[in-house]
Amino acid sequence: MANRAAPDIFGASSMGYALIESNRLEQWRSLLQDGIGLHLACADEQTLAFRMDDHQRRIIIQRGGQEDFVAVGWQLRDQATLDEVLQRLQCLGIEAQISDPHEAAHRGVKRFWRVVGPKRMAVELFWEPLLTDQPLEMLNAGFITGPAGMGHLAITSRKPQQMRRFWEDILDARASDHIVERIAGLTLDIDFFRVNERHHSIAIARLRGLPMDPIRTRIQHMNLLTCSVGELTDAFLRCRKLGFEMAHEIGEHPNDREQSFYVMSPSGFELELGWNALVIDEAQWQTTSYQGISLWGHRPQKTGAWNSFTTNLGSFVQGLRSLLKPEYSPL
Ligand SMILES: [Fe+2]
Repeated sequence: MANRAAPDIFGASSMGYALIESNRLEQWRSLLQDGIGLHLACADEQTLAFRMDDHQRRIIIQRGGQEDFVAVGWQLRDQATLDEVLQRLQCLGIEAQISDPHEAAHRGVKRFWRVVGPKRMAVELFWEPLLTDQPLEMLNAGFITGPAGMGHLAITSRKPQQMRRFWEDILDARASDHIVERIAGLTLDIDFFRVNERHHSIAIARLRGLPMDPIRTRIQHMNLLTCSVGELTDAFLRCRKLGFEMAHEIGEHPNDREQSFYVMSPSGFELELGWNALVIDEAQWQTTSYQGISLWGHRPQKTGAWNSFTTNLGSFVQGLRSLLKPEYSPL
């Protein structure tokens, strides 16, 4: 916030929970419980909720027709940080609505304030998660959360500057680095932003020179982090055995040196499971630019000209559709 004296809240926020709307609850249960290995905390006709640590809920799937990622819960360190964020939102003219008790319980938090963020993804601000000391029943030994929170989100945008400002002005996000990726004759620019010690919590991708968004869903992928390469490969094998398509098999990114795979979720966006994501030393860090999203691997499971044709054509049709609908930005 350049226009008023304000405390820097870098390091005081993290990704807290994910809310997904889908009618494919059984597929989601299979992917997250039997494939990725999360603890299933609640399952009924309308809702699935999953744990990965002492938070009562980290991923919530609610029944509905959107087949999309609808809200991210953003955890702030304390009441003072929340107050600062709410004040910034007010200064920017962005309305924040307080939750009702039912909505808060649904997300596993005491209360939250909802903002309609870029691409109409709700950003739900909270600082008091509901915790539990019930033992975890997971196929993985553990997932990385702690002060840096859950993994990260990657989002495609036709308004990358406004989207960047949203995270910078409200949460003091810092640019970590930039990757240029070339796919099917097109150039993709991806910027990575951190709000705490983790290399990135948000990545923003845009097609260079083309005002199109080839991705139907609000996010391109959500990332979760596990603790070891063994847990990563075990989850990869489980997901594949269950029949989930690998959008990208195991590989390594050049910037945060994370090894990961990307599995197609039942709602059409990708779910990345990784390990070994870089923790940044602020005193030493220098931003840089890389050519290519992967050092090695990350090959699609479905290869061949026909799959490439249908995938790219599908993305192209979605891109054309996006021309008819302006992208929402609160800034
Ligand atoms: Fe990622």
